[in-house]
Amino acid sequence: MSQPLTAILIGAGNRGYEAYGSYALAHPDEICFTAVAEPHEARRARFAEAHTIPSERHFRTWEDLLACGKVADTALVSTLDRLHLQPTIAALEAGYDVLLEKPMATTLAGCVKLVQTAERTGRLLQICHVLRYTPFFATLHNIIRSGRLGKVITVEHREDVSYWHMAHSYVRGNWRNSTAESPMILAKCCHDFDILFWNLGPCRRLSSFGSLTHYRAENAPAGAPQRCTDGCPVAEECPWYAPRLYLELVPLMHTAHHSSVAWERVGATLALDHPALAKAAQHLIPGYATALDYRGWPISTISEDTHPKARQRALESGQYGRCVYYCDNDVVDHQVVNMELEDGTSVAMVMHGHSHREGRTMRYDGTRATLLGQCYVNNQEIQIHDHLTGRVEVIRPALGAAGATGHGGGDAGLMAGFVRAVRDPAQALTTARQSLESHLMAFAAEEARVNGTIVHMDEYRRRAEAAANAQGGSSTGQP
Ligand SMILES: NC(=O)c1ccc[n+]([C@@H]2O[C@H](COP(=O)([O-])OP(=O)(O)OC[C@H]3O[C@@H](n4cnc5c(N)ncnc54)[C@H](O)[C@@H]3O)[C@@H](O)[C@H]2O)c1
Repeated sequence: MSQPLTAILIGAGNRGYEAYGSYALAHPDEICFTAVAEPHEARRARFAEAHTIPSERHFRTWEDLLACGKVADTALVSTLDRLHLQPTIAALEAGYDVLLEKPMATTLAGCVKLVQTAERTGRLLQICHVLRYTPFFATLHNIIRSGRLGKVITVEHREDVSYWHMAHSYVRGNWRNSTAESPMILAKCCHDFDILFWNLGPCRRLSSFGSLTHYRAENAPAGAPQRCTDGCPVAEECPWYAPRLYLELVPLMHTAHHSSVAWERVGATLALDHPALAKAAQHLIPGYATALDYRGWPISTISEDTHPKARQRALESGQYGRCVYYCDNDVVDHQVVNMELEDGTSVAMVMHGHSHREGRTMRYDGTRATLLGQCYVNNQEIQIHDHLTGRVEVIRPALGAAGATGHGGGDAGLMAGFVRAVRDPAQALTTARQSLESHLMAFAAEEARVNGTIVHMDEYRRRAEAAANAQGGSSTGQP
């Protein structure tokens, strides 16, 4: 049996620790972390301890780590969006095969530069497009590519972001501001563009509309303070009241949707349906206490110490306790993108942050059949309605053990896929250049939305290459 791959981790935050770290711990025969770079002391220590990394391999920054030369087979880069480009270019130049979080970079030129560097150095660069590795989207892809639908004529693809995830990540959280990190269409939908490109091929032209309509100061209820914990008069009727979200609702929702123990799921669902009753009779509700003890994402984001008292303190002073109407957010809360693909297929994509539940739905109408898909955490189904026979086939992609892990099994599938691809590049499910295409579509959609134009992708691709070339040897700029 071959030795596990060795890996360095750059950025031991939520993704580095929870998604990639936990995979390595569960699969020590495949991949093993031997060094970590993370400026936040508690996060660095938490990761190093979990992976028994000796102290001489703990670094504060990626620069310090990469200054040691190549100390492992692979580098995993899971810093925030603005800090993807520089460490990845440096790691590729140092000879690492790299797994990089999405989005590749926050500028068009940066994304192209990454692809150019990977191709020039001959290193593998894989982007964390986790959806490709889920049983659901793999099944969808195989159906479309099998020709069962005939020629696909038109597609509707929806990404429904739940009201609480929107508030957590795109109003209060790290992706709230397009200048500080990324526009939401890039941060959230580069996955969706990647799936559309994988299934249907390149886009010829697109247009887009959308705006930040709701989470703005002028919509704040009368008397609402800057922070939920400062005596908000509408706490009881506000869906985004932070103490209720982070101390009660989100833990219950996660247990209701993710727990592998049936009675815990039922108990948590009951409590969600009847919160007042559940609170009063909590000792009688199966799984109620277990549910409230959930400490993973997004709870783990608000403070490293996930004890309820520490969480309460974090809400009183940190970014996640802010009133959703008084944040420095500017990303949209709804956006639609209309596309015409190279083969003439038309696509309408909707992304928004006002949904009761989190998930994606899609409809592909082909000359031979119609496909309806829904991909929710706890409910995944594909229906194929055949035009000739009228028969309906219902497919429920098997989630398997990996389904219990992040992104419907995508996180685990991605890591397994990366290990396979490093060992044998011919087995890579995708390439950096293919990943680039989804990013180009996202940047083009944002440009189309902001300028009110139709973007022609051929010209846009040429512009992106020219912008990257104009940067010359510089890998540090953020044009
Ligand atoms: N693939 C997916 O589906 C998916 C899902 C969520 C997030 N993401 C992406 O993953 C990335 C990380 O997100 P996150 O939620 O883990 O963020 P995070 O803030 O929890 O983690 C980033 C970490 O990088 C560290 N860091 C900052 N400067 C550094 C430096 N100079 N050297 C080394 N480390 C440094 C930070 O201290 C932090 O701990 C983002 O780009 C995000 O968009 C991808």
